[in-house]
Amino acid sequence: MNIQQFRYGADNLAYVIYGNKEAVAVDPGAVNDILSFVRDRGLSLEYVVNTHTHPDHTTGNQKLMDKTGAEYIEPKQLAQNQGLPLEGETIKVYATPGHTRDSVVFHFNGALVTGDTLFVGKAGKCMTGDFNALLESLKFLMSFPEDTVIYPGHDYVEEYMDTAKTVEPDNPAINDFLKKYFPDHVVSTLADEYQMNPTLRFNRPELIEKLKERGLSVETELDRFRSVMWIV
Ligand SMILES: [Fe+2]
Repeated sequence: MNIQQFRYGADNLAYVIYGNKEAVAVDPGAVNDILSFVRDRGLSLEYVVNTHTHPDHTTGNQKLMDKTGAEYIEPKQLAQNQGLPLEGETIKVYATPGHTRDSVVFHFNGALVTGDTLFVGKAGKCMTGDFNALLESLKFLMSFPEDTVIYPGHDYVEEYMDTAKTVEPDNPAINDFLKKYFPDHVVSTLADEYQMNPTLRFNRPELIEKLKERGLSVETELDRFRSVMWIV
């Protein structure tokens, strides 16, 4: 299975996960680009799915279904099914509540499509107010191998690298990552995130020191995560 990323709107990212014959569209706002892509490769679009149901992620659903006959499966159902079949293989789907209650991630071949749960450079906003759920979801993502590739729901890289610098001005990994940033293919690895994303660095002594300097709470893991999320 392969994956192709498409930009749409100001900074949204859509995906097509595909094999030799079949494809799945994820958060498919880039409708025309996705239609061209599947047509050029002779792919049959089987499913339209979302990482969560915020309107900027669902905006292409209906048009793409109308044009292709693809079936829609909502995120909660995908998580209950624990996956999505594609050409005899399974794209694994996991519930990752926190940004929204219905957030999910898609996992296959060492890739994670993370929607608004994890961006390149920062965790997603905790719009449910349940920081514990968001932290547990991020810790679940952090249980994957370090070379796992992150495909986020938006490109906020430049903004979030600036934010990271406000938290850890002397962290060289931030500029190192910016040198690798390529707007036509917005990805990172978990290893990159552990180096430059302050919201995943809640157990790093350097980060804890910065939180202490600001007089923020650092006692428990949840305290540290809330503290760093409060800054960014
Ligand atoms: Fe969202």
